[in-house]
Amino acid sequence: MAMNEFRIRSYDGQMDRGGVVELERRCAVGPSDRVFHLFTDSLGDPMAKIRNSPLFKMLVAELDNELVGVIQGSIKTVTIQTASKDLSKVGYILGLRVLPLHRRKGIGLSLVNHLEQWFIDNQVNFAYMATEKDNEASVKLFINKLGYIPFRTPAILVNPVCHRSSHISTNIEIRKLRTDQAELLYRTYMCLADFFPNDVDKILQNNLSLGTWVAYYRADQSRTMFGQNGQVPNNWAMLSVWNTGEVFKLRIGKMPLSWILYVKGFGLIDKVFPCFKVPALADFFDPFGFYFVYGLHCEGPQSGRLVQALFRFVHNMAAVNSMDECKAIVTEVGGYDTWRLHIPHWKLLSCPEDLWCIKALKPEERNTIQEFTKTHPTSKTTKPLFVDPRDI
Ligand SMILES: CC(C)(COP(=O)(O)OP(=O)(O)OC[C@H]1O[C@@H](n2cnc3c(N)ncnc32)[C@H](O)[C@@H]1OP(=O)(O)O)[C@@H](O)C(=O)NCCC(=O)NCCS
Repeated sequence: MAMNEFRIRSYDGQMDRGGVVELERRCAVGPSDRVFHLFTDSLGDPMAKIRNSPLFKMLVAELDNELVGVIQGSIKTVTIQTASKDLSKVGYILGLRVLPLHRRKGIGLSLVNHLEQWFIDNQVNFAYMATEKDNEASVKLFINKLGYIPFRTPAILVNPVCHRSSHISTNIEIRKLRTDQAELLYRTYMCLADFFPNDVDKILQNNLSLGTWVAYYRADQSRTMFGQNGQVPNNWAMLSVWNTGEVFKLRIGKMPLSWILYVKGFGLIDKVFPCFKVPALADFFDPFGFYFVYGLHCEGPQSGRLVQALFRFVHNMAAVNSMDECKAIVTEVGGYDTWRLHIPHWKLLSCPEDLWCIKALKPEERNTIQEFTKTHPTSKTTKPLFVDPRDI
């Protein structure tokens, strides 16, 4: 008997919404060798993640009237420096899922091929995607089968929010910027970072963007220059915050018994010694919101402490803002960022190497890819990376 053929088509919000939510639920299985694994919950709206991008698409694979696969993509213009230009159109691939029962039938490959064709139809120069390094199926599909090249391994750092506030030194001033000031600073200091989005103003003005803050030392005489004519203090740091919890939630997958006991122990410590400020880990089994910190930049030999102060500030903001149900601060940092040591995070929940892969969709861009991937991801010469909150 001939095997039934699957069909790839565009997502239809009216018809497919429930089917895709169910498909994502059935695909939520993490690597077996991880104690903690974070899953996403799209809150019943599968398009929510990509909707904030300038151009986006979702495709589904259908077999015998059942949805068996899904993929999403978004297109934007970013900084990728080549010999002839600084800006390139890139297509981001995310949310690829195939039902376990229908894997290894070529559905995943076909979904990516169709999405790449949509990128090509929209004059995209490069397609890129991110995956966990230990996701064998995904790594083999994109690298071995589709010719994607690994080019960055940024770290995803996760810090739980606890109910008590973190101390910020009184020597440090933290100030919120207007979006036009923030845009000016980003275009002045981060525009050469890889993947810096040309529409950074749209990100900063988006309702999900809670704001941009700068930190500097009160004693720094040049601080009054901040934001004017692009002049900055000798040591300073900036970051922006995106309320990702409005779009989707995270939750921890199942945990071994030994860890359940460990977590209960944590709860006890918190009750007996509240001064230890242990977060309630039990909270993470229900879907929780998080703030994503993006556009982190700092300058000056003493700026590490300013980075730390900014993260503490964001933590305190999350702790008091119960409306957002924000239980974690998440950021993704790439390149040779020594100041990443100053970002508070829990190793247990973080991912030290998120694997970013890229592919040239136009033959003339192949040399660029070679240039782009030549430097080792952790080399000191690697350029900073701008992680767009819309890609999270
Ligand atoms: C990754 C995933 C989408 C692959 O879907 P799929 O329909 O099974 O993939 P395909 O059948 O098109 O496989 C194409 C190629 O990918 C590679 N591949 C796919 N699954 C693999 C696996 N489990 N182990 C090793 N290689 C695998 C193979 O090279 C395969 O070609 P082959 O079958 O000729 O050897 C699917 O495993 C899945 O949904 N995983 C869970 C969600 C996920 O990890 N998504 C990726 C996030 S970036």
